[in-house]
Amino acid sequence: MAVLSTKGLTVTFGGNRAVNALDLKVEPGQLVGLIGPNGAGKTTTIDAITGFVPSQGRIEFKGEEIGSLSSTARARKGVGRTWQSSELFDDLTVLENLQVASESVSVGGFLRDLVRPRNDDIDALISILDSLDLGGTQGQLPTELSHGQRKLVGVARALAAKPAVLCMDEPAAGLDTEESQELGKRIRALVDGGLPTLLIDHDMGLVLTICDYLYVLDFGQLIAEGTPAEIRADEKVITAYLGQSASTEAGA
Ligand SMILES: Nc1ncnc2c1ncn2[C@@H]1O[C@H](COP(=O)(O)OP(=O)(O)OP(=O)(O)O)[C@@H](O)[C@H]1O
Ligand SMILES: [Mg+2]
Repeated sequence: MAVLSTKGLTVTFGGNRAVNALDLKVEPGQLVGLIGPNGAGKTTTIDAITGFVPSQGRIEFKGEEIGSLSSTARARKGVGRTWQSSELFDDLTVLENLQVASESVSVGGFLRDLVRPRNDDIDALISILDSLDLGGTQGQLPTELSHGQRKLVGVARALAAKPAVLCMDEPAAGLDTEESQELGKRIRALVDGGLPTLLIDHDMGLVLTICDYLYVLDFGQLIAEGTPAEIRADEKVITAYLGQSASTEAGA
């Protein structure tokens, strides 16, 4: 059974159908890419799945309809996300940024921790930082980190909420090719470690290398889906999105 699926997912802003009748699935063990040009509806899809914009159609988490739940309730069930723009609190340390995220999904956690912060919780957060090579940054402010590290703290923050499926919105944006490949390896490792993920990114080299399956949106419409090999060869994708350079990349 899919961990996450949408059926006929539709989001309308005024007269604009930002997402039109989208069916997608993320299966256990899968890294699924969601790609398409600017304004195609990718972020809106994640906003709808995670409950940040109203939508029509079905959204299922492990077979259970979650479309009528609040964003917090969906997060508590295990639907995690990262944000396209910086989501970090710059006046909190890296560790505090993670604590806020983990507390926001644990009922009563915030009050409990005000009374008696738990060391095992802190250890768990530090091991998340270690797993992303952010060990030693816990006392630093996000502004003291590199852009790549801040992006990773955004991922760590999502992991702190203990998601069962993760939706990532352009985690590699602003990274150079090397940083982007490094991040790609980490994302793949997270998925292989048991966290199915829906990944939005514009870096074709990245998504076509690390994803198991891809969906391509254009003007809110699904124009293609398939394995990276199928997407590389898809004429509609090549004309609508990838352009000339894709055929060169496809040969690589
Ligand atoms: N809150 C909103 N109110 C009105 N229109 C919106 C809103 N959010 C997005 N849109 C519109 O919905 C469409 C899809 O936007 P979305 O941000 O989902 O695209 P995207 O694929 O994530 O693009 P990008 O690659 O630039 O991040 C666009 O036409 C956008 O202008
Ligand atoms: Mg977007």
